[in-house]
Amino acid sequence: MDKIKIRGGNQLNGKIHISGAKNAALPLIAASLLTSEPVTLSNMPILSDITSLNNLLLELGTKIEQKEEQKKGHTSETYTYQTRNFTSLVAPYDFVRKMRASYYVLGPVLARTGHVELSLPGGCAIGARPMDIHLNSLEQMGAQIEIKNGYVVADAKKGLKGAHIIFPKASVGATCNILMAATLAKGATIIENAAQEPEIGDLIDLLVKMGAKIEGKNTSVLKIEGVSKLNGAEHTILPDRIEAGSYAIAAAITKGKIELEGAIADHLKAPLNILRAMDIKITEKENSIIVDARNADLQGQDIMTDYYPGFPTDLQAQFMALMTVAGGASMVTENIWENRFMHVPELMRMGANINVHGHASAIVRGVKKLSAAPVMATDLRASFALVLAGLIADGETIVNRVYHLDRGYEKLEEKLKAVGADIERIKEPD
Ligand code: UD1
Repeated sequence: MDKIKIRGGNQLNGKIHISGAKNAALPLIAASLLTSEPVTLSNMPILSDITSLNNLLLELGTKIEQKEEQKKGHTSETYTYQTRNFTSLVAPYDFVRKMRASYYVLGPVLARTGHVELSLPGGCAIGARPMDIHLNSLEQMGAQIEIKNGYVVADAKKGLKGAHIIFPKASVGATCNILMAATLAKGATIIENAAQEPEIGDLIDLLVKMGAKIEGKNTSVLKIEGVSKLNGAEHTILPDRIEAGSYAIAAAITKGKIELEGAIADHLKAPLNILRAMDIKITEKENSIIVDARNADLQGQDIMTDYYPGFPTDLQAQFMALMTVAGGASMVTENIWENRFMHVPELMRMGANINVHGHASAIVRGVKKLSAAPVMATDLRASFALVLAGLIADGETIVNRVYHLDRGYEKLEEKLKAVGADIERIKEPD
């Protein structure tokens, strides 16, 4: 298993190109299953989560073509997906276990074929991650669902039908899944309390290009009028707001200045406001964001994760790393996942002063310095928080279990090295 070695203390300065959004790419790839025609997605990030979903689609019978393009000095990948016919309607355990978002095939395959079997993903490091909202909603649309041998077996022999669905929680995954299923259902579907994350807007844009009839983009009520068939389309994946936010924090914690090329400031309002409150200069440009912390007197801030446009849970661990060296005390409240403080003990091993209260809140009292240590994290964003801590710690930090980072941060070492970090990957056989 590879490791990452970081020698802390360098101020980061320069430009980082923001990749396509992982959490948009995953449902967009699954949406290609709704049509027999080709769907071309450009600005695809090169990440192991994408490879995992691609492997599942290959298993289902999708043909995938990959093309590399040079755009404005960086390499970008374009993938074309075509599922003329399905060779299997089963998403096996070995695929789903590697990547939970494999559940995105559920809605599209069921809607197009009337049958699908999906291994239940089970729990994970950041929580139980149930699928009840996905399944209850499909039942309301006329699907018959059984749990058999660890699999969801769903049937809709006569096709899905439109329904008026009210989500108990604004789940991102359920919104994407039901949205995709509803495009091919008979009649109209209304989803109330839909999630409003930008990645859902990106999915709606692709579905509309494919011929779907959807109203209510960027609102909590989506209306979908089912059509009998969807066509192929081409789409560029939006930039990754979580990657951009993570590198913004890298600028902040090292008191440097980084321009995030391609980032959309509008998608990062809540985290950028916290950085501004920390005395960091944020310049929003048309196609980039400049984060300048060179003269900042970093003082702690309270953050509370929430559904979009609230503060994203996927930036909570990274902000906590920043708070460990900010002046005064900060309160971090996690409202989305029940077990998302796994980075705390590792940050404390590096000298952070953090008190966790129950499952949902933590008080962070700023310290003058962190010191390097061998650390490991149990999820993707927590791993990045440890990289951030390593960037300012005294000495050499080794971050283990790099496969977490490879799921969601494209060319991590390359990007950080280019802005001045002393970082390298140590290759080790598995
Ligand atoms: C997505 C993101 C993940 C992010 C999360 C919240 C992807 C691939 N992943 O995950 O990075 O942290 O949104 O912004 O896009 N819930 C239920 N029942 C369900 C579904 C969800 O109770 O059927 C609960 C979950 O336990 C959680 C909350 O709803 O407490 C939000 O989950 P959800 O928005 O569905 O997260 P994901 O789509 O899995």
